[in-house]
Amino acid sequence: MVPPTTVRRATVVPRPVCPARRDSYGVAMESSAITDDGSPTHTTDRFLTGRVALVTGAASGIGRACAVALAAAGAHVHVVDIAAEEAKAVAHAIGGTAHAVDLADPDAVETLPERVDIVVNNAGLQHVAPIHEFPAERFTLIQKVMVEAPFRIVRRVLPHMYVQRWGRVVNISSVHGLRASAFKSAYVAAKHALEGLSKVAALEGAPYGVTSNCVSPGYVRTPLVENQIAAQAAAHGISGDEVVREIMLERPAIKRLIEPEEVAAAVLYLCRAEAGYVTGTSLSLDGGWTAH
Ligand SMILES: NC(=O)c1ccc[n+]([C@@H]2O[C@H](COP(=O)([O-])OP(=O)(O)OC[C@H]3O[C@@H](n4cnc5c(N)ncnc54)[C@H](O)[C@@H]3O)[C@@H](O)[C@H]2O)c1
Repeated sequence: MVPPTTVRRATVVPRPVCPARRDSYGVAMESSAITDDGSPTHTTDRFLTGRVALVTGAASGIGRACAVALAAAGAHVHVVDIAAEEAKAVAHAIGGTAHAVDLADPDAVETLPERVDIVVNNAGLQHVAPIHEFPAERFTLIQKVMVEAPFRIVRRVLPHMYVQRWGRVVNISSVHGLRASAFKSAYVAAKHALEGLSKVAALEGAPYGVTSNCVSPGYVRTPLVENQIAAQAAAHGISGDEVVREIMLERPAIKRLIEPEEVAAAVLYLCRAEAGYVTGTSLSLDGGWTAH
């Protein structure tokens, strides 16, 4: 007799439920992670609850990603940018406070809040030209926004950080704070200066529980870089993809652009208690560029 056909039912094994991770106060938190291709997942680890952060250039790109990440971690964020409407939109989205300020104007910088626990000096701009053709006023503007304004902001907030004996200064530098590229004299000079300022702040801040570090990325996928891709594609008569592959990704060993959220994750790390001994250094996020 032929045995009846038996249909094997798939057994559904319930997935184990992972206990929620808890912080040192016993508060449940989700893990924050970035996938290997740089796409973000979101943190709800609110370890910055009660902290006040100030992020410059927070209306766009890396600054916006930092503002979003700091707010998601519980901080109240001052969103500083020359782009008033965009700054307002970011502040509205994250429950922060917008400040429409031109960082090239020293008087305007001196109106920014002083009672700040975390500063992210991020605002920046680029100009590409050989030195002998570089407009001097453009060079000056880049130093004002990317060196003098960070100095004035740090000078302004340090007394509050010193009194409370805790503070985090995070300067968004660049691989160009550590290495040069032709035709970027103002930008490379400014980023090298920012690295120096950051180290001095680290030495002076250490006795007061204030750390100061740079985060130094390679090419990040932001409007600043999208504009460079378009300009270079037009200049060389090649496609945007070819600009990225053959020019921008020539030096990094990892052949992709970085996402702004990956830079923000490094900034968040530097704000953690676990990073309390990390100071006066540069966290390179350059896919191996400076390993050469
Ligand atoms: N995108 C990259 O590949 C890359 C790589 C390394 C470092 N960085 C650095 O990261 C920082 C952010 O760059 P991004 O790529 O996000 O650029 P972005 O152009 O997307 O954002 C820069 C922001 O700075 C603001 N800003 C410019 N001038 C200002 C001024 N005078 N006053 C106030 N705000 C001003 C802009 O309005 C803008 O919102 C810059 O310091 C840049 O040098 C960028």
